[in-house]
Amino acid sequence: MPKWIEEAVFYEIYPQSFNDTNADGIGDFEGIIEKLDYIKELGANALWINPCFLSQFHDAGYDVEDYYTVAPRYGTNEDLVRLFKEAHKRDMHVLLDLVPGHTAIEHKWFKESLKPERNEYTDRYIWTDDVWTETPSNMRFLQGLSDRNGAVALNFFATQPALNYGFYQPDPEKKWQQSMDAPGPRATREEIKNIIRFWLKAGADGFRVDMAGSLVKGDDEQSHGTIALWQELRAFLDEEFPEAGFVSEWGEPDKSLAGGFHMDFLLHFGPSHYNDLFRCEEPYFSSRGKGNKKDFLETYIRNYEKTGGKGLICIPSGNHDMDRLARYLTPDEQKIAFAFLLSMPGAPFIYYGDEIGMRYVENLVSVEGGYNRTGSRSPMQWDKSVNAGFSTASPDKLYVALDPSDDRPDVESQMADPDSLYHQVKALIDLRKQHKALQNTAKIRFLDTEEYPLVYERYCEEERMLVIINPSAKACVISTPNTPGELIYRVGGSAKAEGNAVHVDAATAVFMKY
Ligand code: NOJ
Repeated sequence: MPKWIEEAVFYEIYPQSFNDTNADGIGDFEGIIEKLDYIKELGANALWINPCFLSQFHDAGYDVEDYYTVAPRYGTNEDLVRLFKEAHKRDMHVLLDLVPGHTAIEHKWFKESLKPERNEYTDRYIWTDDVWTETPSNMRFLQGLSDRNGAVALNFFATQPALNYGFYQPDPEKKWQQSMDAPGPRATREEIKNIIRFWLKAGADGFRVDMAGSLVKGDDEQSHGTIALWQELRAFLDEEFPEAGFVSEWGEPDKSLAGGFHMDFLLHFGPSHYNDLFRCEEPYFSSRGKGNKKDFLETYIRNYEKTGGKGLICIPSGNHDMDRLARYLTPDEQKIAFAFLLSMPGAPFIYYGDEIGMRYVENLVSVEGGYNRTGSRSPMQWDKSVNAGFSTASPDKLYVALDPSDDRPDVESQMADPDSLYHQVKALIDLRKQHKALQNTAKIRFLDTEEYPLVYERYCEEERMLVIINPSAKACVISTPNTPGELIYRVGGSAKAEGNAVHVDAATAVFMKY
C-alpha cells in the first residue's frame, strides 16, 4: 500500500455543490482550488472528487459521455491538472471517480454499438442476440432502441448501459453471453486501463471506483470473476503506477481487498450493517440508547480478521448517495459519532459539510437523477452571506436549493465557536496525526461489553489507546483488562478510572492512554 494512504484523511467533494467561482450556480474546479487551504486546515490531506467528466447528467455525472474530457461546467482539462498541482503543492492527494460499469447512452461507443453493422464497439456492451431473447431475471435490459436486433443490459438507470466484462460462467445455450476472455470484454478492460493511465499521467493520484463489485455478470457468490478482473488490473497498476491509490464502492472488503484495492467502503447497502450505527430508526449513535451494535461488530470483526494486513476498511461519515448524518443524529450525537469515525482503523472519509453538521434538505424535487439523494447534495454553507457564500448567482439558479433554515450551520460561524462540531472534527484529525495508535493501519481489538458503550483498544508497537464511546443518555461503568492512564481526549462528559473500572458519563466519548 502506498505510504500516503496509510496517512490519508479524505474529504469527499461533490463538485456541483462545493464552491462556485463563476456565478453560474454550479461549483467548479477553481472553487475547489480556492478551498484547498480550508480542507488542509481541517486536517484532511486527500480528496475524492465525484465524476467530473463530460456528461448529460442524467445521474449527476455517473453517466459518462467521454472519460477523457472534463465537463465544461467545472472548467477544462487544464484546470483539473492545475487542481492536481495545487493539491500536490500542499502535500495533498486527489482521487477521481472512475465509472467502469457503464457509460452514458450518449457515449460514442454506445452510439456505435447500436448499429446493426458489426464495428469496433459491437461487443463493448452486453447485447443479447435477439430482441425477444429471454434474459436473466437478475439483470435489466432495454429493448427497441435501434435496428440492432438485440436487447442491451443496464447497469443502473435506463441511461446507463452496462459495459461488457463478460460472464463468469457463460450459459453455453446462450451464445450472446461472452466469456471474460472473449475479445469484447478484453477490449473493454484495455480501454479502462487507458483511462486510468490518462488521468494518472495527468497528475491524479488514484480513483474511487464506482460499483466495483458488479462488473462481471453472472458471478458466483464469492465474486470470483470480478475479483480476478481486479487482480488483472492490480498487476497492471503495480507495474505502471504503484503509488496510485484505489478505493472501491463494493461494501465487501474481503472481496475487494482480495481484488487488490487498497481500501473498501462500508456502505448504506450490502452486508456491513453500517446503517445500524448511523441511519435507521434507532441508530446506535442516538442518545435514546436503543441501538444495536452486535451485527455491525460481528461483520466488521469477521472482515477485519479476513482482510488483516491486506488493506483498509473505510467507514465514511456519509456520501452523495445517503442521507446526511444530521437527518438522524443531533449535533451532540454527531460529535460522538465523529469520535468513533476518527478513531477507527481505515482511512477516514468526510463528506463535504458533514464537518459542520450540514442537514439533509427535505422535500426537494430531484436534481440530475438525485431523487431522495438530492437532499444530501445541497450547496456547501460557507458563511452567512448571500447563498451561504457558495455562489453569487441568483438563488433560483443554484444547482440544488440551499438548506432554507435560519439556523443552518456554516463554516465561518463554526470556526468562531470553539465548541462547534468543526473544531471537534479538526481536533480529532489532529489527534489522529499525533498518535500512531489511532492511525489508519494501527490495530483494533474490541472489548466485550453490554450494548452500550462501545469499547475498543487501538494499538501499534509504540502505543496503546483505550477508546470508550457511550452515545446513550445513561452513564455506565466498564471493567478493562488493563489500568487506563492519562485522558487524551473527551467529548460530552468525562470518564474516571478507579483501578480497572472506568466510570463513563452519559453521551460521552473518551480516549485514554492504556
Ligand atoms: C454509485 C454512485 O455513488 C451513485 O451516485 C450512482 O448513481 C451509481 N453508482 C451509478 O453509477
